[in-house]
Amino acid sequence: MKKTNVTSDGRFAGIVGEDYDRLLRAIPHIPAFEHGIATSARKGLPKKFTGQAKVLDLGCGNGMTTMALCAEMKNVHIVGVDIEPTMLKQYEARVIEGQKSTLRDANISITVTQNDALQFLKGCEANSFDVVVSGYVLHNLPQQVRSEIVKEIARVLRPNGRFVNGDKIAQNDEKVHQRSLLKQLTTIVNVYSSPADRAYGIEWVEHYARDNQPDLKYKESEVFDSLKAAGFKKIKIVKRWNMEALVSADK
Ligand SMILES: C[S@@+](CC[C@H](N)C(=O)[O-])C[C@H]1O[C@@H](n2cnc3c(N)ncnc32)[C@H](O)[C@@H]1O
Repeated sequence: MKKTNVTSDGRFAGIVGEDYDRLLRAIPHIPAFEHGIATSARKGLPKKFTGQAKVLDLGCGNGMTTMALCAEMKNVHIVGVDIEPTMLKQYEARVIEGQKSTLRDANISITVTQNDALQFLKGCEANSFDVVVSGYVLHNLPQQVRSEIVKEIARVLRPNGRFVNGDKIAQNDEKVHQRSLLKQLTTIVNVYSSPADRAYGIEWVEHYARDNQPDLKYKESEVFDSLKAAGFKKIKIVKRWNMEALVSADK
């Protein structure tokens, strides 16, 4: 793993990061969501290429998105970037160590870097990736940073390259969004009600409360506006699951 001296804000350093997979109990559609990211990403690869196509997994976490990409693709070089060492430790065990033979058979190579997403993108050459994916990442960042990141993604993608952004994306209709949020929070409270789970559930409720602050909420309108401003075309919602949506856009 390549390391930088950038430090995370700790959002995924505590129990939420150490046991991120426990979230599947409250959001059982996560595997379908990650599979959706990977399928859209595969469809965005060039029809013909020699060697390996290049895919960037921005905010790769503990490897769920990369694992879905590996199940869907072959002949690719995947670059994983994440700011949080707690997540990257699991990524290395699960993907780099755990999938050695699968990766070899599919001619998939992976490099992983601990860095801030925007800083990493700024250090990349223009037109250097075929596809960029991001799963549950951008909503964690301030609006200004998100829009800079989208512009940088447009710069590092090759012409016609694809960005697949799967994230917690609030519906434009505030009432609909509030209903989705309430449904998700109710599930979290119910699923993590035992004494062994309670602290985990509370951390997630705090995450959702913070993400719902007006200046941080990642609305569908913002997603579309930032993609348009960065010059993307064919912007579409591929699928929505309650609070989450999968958006694909081509350069
Ligand atoms: C909810 S996890 C999702 C991980 C993975 N993409 C998935 O779908 O399972 C969000 C990840 O974004 C990372 N992240 C948050 N802010 C970041 C930043 N500024 N730069 C890079 N990664 C960041 C977190 O460390 C965390 O691992």
